[in-house]
Amino acid sequence: MATPSRIAVARTLHLVFGEGARVPDAWDAGLPAADAGLANALLGQCLRRWGTLQAAIRPQLKDQSRGLPLGTQVSLAIGLAQLAWLPGVSDHAAVNEAVDLATSREVGFPPHKGLVNAILRRAAKDREALAAGLDAMDPALDRSPFTRRVLQAALAPRGGGGVEALWRRLQAPPHPHFRPLRAEPLPPGLEPSEILPGAFHLAANAEFPAQWLAAGAGMVQDLSSQALLSFRWEPPVTRILDACSAPGGKATALGRRFPEARITAVERNPARARRLRDNLQLRGVQADIVVEDACPWLLRDGPSFDLIMLDAPCSGSGTLQKHPELNWLGDALDLARLLLAQRTLLEAALPRLAPGGLLIYAVCSWLPEEGQAHLERLLAGQPRFRPAAIWPAPMGTEDGPTSLFRPDPLTWAGEGFQAFALTV
Ligand SMILES: C[S@@+](CC[C@H](N)C(=O)[O-])C[C@H]1O[C@@H](n2cnc3c(N)ncnc32)[C@H](O)[C@@H]1O
Repeated sequence: MATPSRIAVARTLHLVFGEGARVPDAWDAGLPAADAGLANALLGQCLRRWGTLQAAIRPQLKDQSRGLPLGTQVSLAIGLAQLAWLPGVSDHAAVNEAVDLATSREVGFPPHKGLVNAILRRAAKDREALAAGLDAMDPALDRSPFTRRVLQAALAPRGGGGVEALWRRLQAPPHPHFRPLRAEPLPPGLEPSEILPGAFHLAANAEFPAQWLAAGAGMVQDLSSQALLSFRWEPPVTRILDACSAPGGKATALGRRFPEARITAVERNPARARRLRDNLQLRGVQADIVVEDACPWLLRDGPSFDLIMLDAPCSGSGTLQKHPELNWLGDALDLARLLLAQRTLLEAALPRLAPGGLLIYAVCSWLPEEGQAHLERLLAGQPRFRPAAIWPAPMGTEDGPTSLFRPDPLTWAGEGFQAFALTV
């Protein structure tokens, strides 16, 4: 019988490759803490190296023209990934548990028990050679057409080049960054970031500060979001709109930075709005929460705002390091629908910007059509809106302060982001 951690990994791989679904946030929630580390490492390797693993299996099949059932692919990937990249797992556990998975009707394919057993026993004879062989295969095997386009887009502002370097960076497991929210001692192991004042990361082998986060004393927030929120803006801000606000990271930062301002936080997804409410309450941030689609809400009569944050729904193409499954799901994304949603939200938000106010549009994506292209069309069609250079030069692609936030993917360790700032 396979252990719960291997079964959880197998189920999650079925979700991604069978149903085209994202890895759920709490996919490992039911696992004992001692198993969650192994499960995360294993899932990460299977997702990041899925193309390589499947390509390595193919020459070992009698009939290479016939595709393997997903249950067999999953059992083999789990077995091979452990043998190649998880040296702490014994040969016996890696092989036998994968064979057990293959015999499960839910996550395996019982008729292929013998095939899985034979391939894994052969691989277990020389694990070093297996790892070296897999690592020598073409890294492009692990990149979908979507990802190839994303990498090109990310590197375009620096004139192209650097695909392999960027890919290597995105293949490393991500390191979370944190933002303290209270003036109290930090949990052991939180160290100041050398890149961004006010941001913290976890020292090697330090315990994840779960209690500190659960108490609302700090939050996890990617470096790019933290840098985005460190914008320079002097005019008074008394009314803030966060138009797409759950789970509330940016609303929290805005509430702390402008404590006198009244915040309206709109979120259309009721479950996410509940998370937003809980997060803001825990962190002591006051906001009027509106659970509604922001487009019709914005188009109704209502107040104008000195600061509008539009953190729009997007492809998430800048989050490939944290969400490796996106590599395999990106080609099926309905990008046209997302672009329309972004454009509709922007056009609905602009009339609600008070004279002299600031609108920040942001997406965690490198694709130019989700960011820069909206800006260009908007400036051409509505010349009364002007770019506001609110971020320091290193965050953009120009020499001076910039209105287009687009950190360089090879020298900046945060997620891929594009944002622009406008005033009227
Ligand atoms: C990128 S996330 C926002 C993250 C958030 N600003 C933060 O920093 O924690 C986008 C959010 O917008 C919500 N959303 C998408 N379309 C929306 C719409 N038309 N109106 C309101 N909320 C929307 C999504 O449900 C999602 O929670």
